[in-house]
Amino acid sequence: MRYAVLEGGKRLRPLLVLAASEAVAGSPQAALRAACAVELIHAYSLVHDDMPCMDNDVLRRGKPTVHVQFGEAGALLAGDALQALAFEMLTPQGEPAGAVDEVDPATQARLCGLLARAAGLSGMAGGQAIDLASVGSPLDSATLHEMHRRKTGALLQASVMMGVACGALPAASRCSVEAALSDYGWAIGLAFQVMDDVLDVTADSLTLGKTPGKDAAHDKPTFVSLMGLSGSQAYALHLLDRALAQLEKVHAAGYRQTAALQGLAHLLVERVR
Ligand code: IPE
Ligand code: IPE
Ligand code: MG
Ligand code: MG
Ligand code: MG
Repeated sequence: MRYAVLEGGKRLRPLLVLAASEAVAGSPQAALRAACAVELIHAYSLVHDDMPCMDNDVLRRGKPTVHVQFGEAGALLAGDALQALAFEMLTPQGEPAGAVDEVDPATQARLCGLLARAAGLSGMAGGQAIDLASVGSPLDSATLHEMHRRKTGALLQASVMMGVACGALPAASRCSVEAALSDYGWAIGLAFQVMDDVLDVTADSLTLGKTPGKDAAHDKPTFVSLMGLSGSQAYALHLLDRALAQLEKVHAAGYRQTAALQGLAHLLVERVR
């Protein structure tokens, strides 16, 4: 579990939680717990994604994958336990009332709900199932969007919404600000996986920390197979514009701390690994 979580990674999902929480003046204690929880789910998803029964990858974050290092049963169980640990992180037990990292029960419940939905059937795990079922069969645009939204976008969007849940938006602006940040999360989540597909074609393994070229080798439907390399890059930039436009609405509604969310949107799309 330590190997899967602490050995590298860009920490984009935790950064999104913290940036979204900052934008709505959220509780830093709640945001830090949410940030850790979402990274634990992400780390578990990578451990299982790399296993022989899924993508069968041997390199992750520049090192042997967990099942190569510790065996398949160890990888399976480490993933399972990381998933449980994420929810432990959100529901601390035994802290004395008034402890410095206390999170109120309603926020705990809301964070658990957001994370569970993004990780399960309607999010990551469901998207991974579509991914595996689609090997060798080209998907139409709508199905590919749905697959990417679920397998990757859902957890990135949930990161944003978990950050939002750490704050207490006034009723007057809650709906519009939540809707704008949700759409921001949707757009960057999709753009992120479009760029993951692009980097699988364009990056080298030293930079990427994983073996490139695996999507084509496994005959996976990707945005590159649907719209080509330059089409995919252009689409990611279009999604970036959409995300930035949503942030302008948030800014205009009086929430001025959107610089980190803006910078992260650029980073997710303009990254080289
Ligand atoms: C890779 O995610 C897996 C996908 C969901 C596409 P990241 O590129 O965020 O992986 P790390 O955490 O930085 O290694
Ligand atoms: C994986 O997508 C998404 C997850 C839910 C882990 P990929 O299979 O494309 O991710 P990489 O390229 O192996 O990191
Ligand atoms: Mg995969
Ligand atoms: Mg993979
Ligand atoms: Mg990939």
